Amino acid sequence: MPGPRRFYVTTPIYYVNDRPHIGHLYTTTLADVLARHHRHLGEETFFLTGTDEHAAKVVDSAAERGLSPEEWAARNAAEFQRAFARFGISNDDFIRTSEARHVERVTRYVAALLESGDVYSGDYEGWYDPGQEEYVPEGRAREWEYRSPVNGRPLVRRRERNYFFRLSAWRDALLDLIDARPDFVLPEARRNEVVGRLREGLLDVPISRCHEEAEPRWGIPMPGDPSHVIYVWIDALFNYLSAVDTEERRPFWPPSVHLIAKDILWFHAVIWPAMLLALRGCPGFDWVELPERVYAHSFWISEGQKMSKSLGNFVDLERLEGYASRFGLDALRFFLVTQGPLGTHDADFAEARFRHVYTAELANTLGNCANRVAHMTRRYLAGRAAAPEASCPAAAGLEEAAARAVEEAFRALEALAPDRACGAALELARAVNAAIEETRPFALARDPERRGEVGTILYRCAEALRIAALLLAPVMPERMAELLRRFGAAEAAERIRARERGDLRAWCRWGGLAPGTPLETGPALFPREEDA
Ligand code: MSP
Repeated sequence: MPGPRRFYVTTPIYYVNDRPHIGHLYTTTLADVLARHHRHLGEETFFLTGTDEHAAKVVDSAAERGLSPEEWAARNAAEFQRAFARFGISNDDFIRTSEARHVERVTRYVAALLESGDVYSGDYEGWYDPGQEEYVPEGRAREWEYRSPVNGRPLVRRRERNYFFRLSAWRDALLDLIDARPDFVLPEARRNEVVGRLREGLLDVPISRCHEEAEPRWGIPMPGDPSHVIYVWIDALFNYLSAVDTEERRPFWPPSVHLIAKDILWFHAVIWPAMLLALRGCPGFDWVELPERVYAHSFWISEGQKMSKSLGNFVDLERLEGYASRFGLDALRFFLVTQGPLGTHDADFAEARFRHVYTAELANTLGNCANRVAHMTRRYLAGRAAAPEASCPAAAGLEEAAARAVEEAFRALEALAPDRACGAALELARAVNAAIEETRPFALARDPERRGEVGTILYRCAEALRIAALLLAPVMPERMAELLRRFGAAEAAERIRARERGDLRAWCRWGGLAPGTPLETGPALFPREEDA
């Protein structure tokens, strides 16, 4: 019998020089939602995030503070780790590129590429963007009027003796790959962008820098030539492989999805797969398959404006912490996931919007619905789920609505659309509210003859809500685990809280709520702002 399916999800590893902000938290939360969903499904799941530490600017910022690069990097990496723990991120590992396990493996990968001729030494002269630490092809440099599109500073002309990766050799293979696997680069508009640029042609890329430029030496030495260090981007991309390149973890390879934003698409959709194709041809690396998907979302902006250092308007951790303590961490996660820049449009982080979503979706729809069902069950049924009467037509449509929601949510999560999965679950909660309005159990309850009907209606409502809670659990693990606990699904609640593998398909089956189970009331799951 084949073992459980495996799911391996990654985030970019973040520059250790920056302070964590909404952009970092967003991608990491999306990865977290996918990881949790796949764990709930019972799959072997591996969720990787971490920090990218060998950028040259780390040396300068460390020096400005009188620290060594190691100390500065360690301090900031710890900051990312603390932030992710605080925001409920369930990563299975956190890789730092300065760790020996990474350095040792990258050295091995690059040595293999040198050996095979995929990496060679040569001279290079071109336009260089110091802020991004990358060379820009002539055509682009001209188009950008010789300024960095990121920070507006001039590009500089630079010449160096370097090690190059033979990227140009992989153009056709990459075009074929993207053609054969339409899911490889997502969303579709991003795939078209990549294809367009590939058709323009590919240059070989320098993958080392002379280390005298950055004293003290910071980076992974080029194998066989300690006067060079491996270019930070090459070093960084290999994190996805190095982290799982152990006896025990190798079965997780290849990644099911690399989540990134559009800013680093080229590296992930072109340079990375080309490096892997090259490595795969080296002895001992034939197991190195290509990742299944690269998904590039768009950008958060803040109150209608692009976030930038000069404007100082990053939605930073303090601000996010403020929302989490006022509305609850799960509400913040729900907002990020449902209102964020999935797809190709940027999204605005605006307080008014947050309030609106919180009140309409969480307090008035989901929270209110759970509250009503639990309270009516207490009042009319002594707090226990009744045995539903199959012949009773009232609220019978909820069973089918729940089945539809499950199917839609599962499909959406497979398609990397957790926003749509939330939409399906909320739709189900709205169907419960509508069923209550329509069947009026609170009115029927006055007639002792109709208790059976009331029991049936409330059973169906509770069952639909229990299922909605399961679908929302990857996004709002704490609140949904609490709802599940109150609605008689203690085991699922426990496993969700503990981040353990579950049995989501079975949990979502209609009828999981056993008649006679006590349903608990409790404090509002999403208190209205004025009550909070
Ligand atoms: N270190 C490189 C990545 C190496 S991966 C092998 C890097 N780091 S970064 O710190 O700049 O992080 C970039 C990533 O942060 C983006 O791809 C995205 O995941 C996230 N975001 C940064 N700003 C963002 C927004 N304004 N909005 C959404 N996400 C963005 O690049």
